Amino acid sequence: MRGHERAALLLGAVGGPKWDNPNASVRPEQALFALRTRFGLFANLRPVTVLPELVEASPLKASRLEGVDMLVVRELTGGLYFGRPSGEETTSSGRRAVDTLPYHEDEIRRIAVIAFELARKRRKRVASIDKANVLSTSRLWRKVVTEVGADYPDVVLEHRLVDSTAMLLATWPATFDVIVTENLFGDILSDEAAVLAGSLGMLPSASLGDRRTASGTFGLYEPIHGSAPDIAGKDIANPMATILSAVMMLRYIGERQAADRIDKALSQVLAEKRDVTVDLGGDAGTRRMTDAIVARLKTN
Ligand code: IPM
Ligand code: MG
Repeated sequence: MRGHERAALLLGAVGGPKWDNPNASVRPEQALFALRTRFGLFANLRPVTVLPELVEASPLKASRLEGVDMLVVRELTGGLYFGRPSGEETTSSGRRAVDTLPYHEDEIRRIAVIAFELARKRRKRVASIDKANVLSTSRLWRKVVTEVGADYPDVVLEHRLVDSTAMLLATWPATFDVIVTENLFGDILSDEAAVLAGSLGMLPSASLGDRRTASGTFGLYEPIHGSAPDIAGKDIANPMATILSAVMMLRYIGERQAADRIDKALSQVLAEKRDVTVDLGGDAGTRRMTDAIVARLKTN
């Protein structure tokens, strides 16, 4: 892949039971990690909103979902995922495994800057999530995020511990605007936050880095859901997350009009409810819902 001059990559979900053995020497996850590191995609943005049409589909009470509009900014190329040493060894007293959690202040600073910049365009609140009562990396995280925050006096910064954040996400999700956190915490919390939206099939993501192209910041866009092997090939998967990932992509490469048009077509199809997939309370298949969106695009 030459890649560098390309403006963006749109990625379909990877994985499946055939490749699930965590001890296999080649796993689909490795390709994902290679893409993330090769393109320096250190900032993973996962927006979570609850569409009014989908409030019923969420496991939370409607009253708790009012005003939910958050953006999880997950550090994507550091921490436990890439720390060395990592592996298992056999010692005289038994097997032993180790993973390493390193963070350099520069890695923390650049993701914090992204979070504050994005917060400025939103409700101007950043919640930085760590485990500073236990982890040294979290204590450094807290210091560096506080330093960066000093440059953004218009943005309210709060520090929260990851365990109580997990609880708050389920009890009072509307309190969050931008959440910024390290790689593993972000992985876990973003899946939890995704549940709020009612269907995992709804949520897009963008992974960005420093690389600039003629069209703007280079990024990789993908739905946050996995490959859903249990429904693969059955024409029932919700196409929203993938289409919304493409919309996010268009926005970041400066094609705002195209993005708005697709957004509008999507809202119309969702509002009509006639051609939506089963997880959204309809009886359409993937193809029919996609065709309905495309038809809307043509007539708008
Ligand atoms: C994600 C996924 C990946 C991750 C897996 C597939 C390795 O869960 O993008 O959230 O943990 O980063
Ligand atoms: Mg994940």
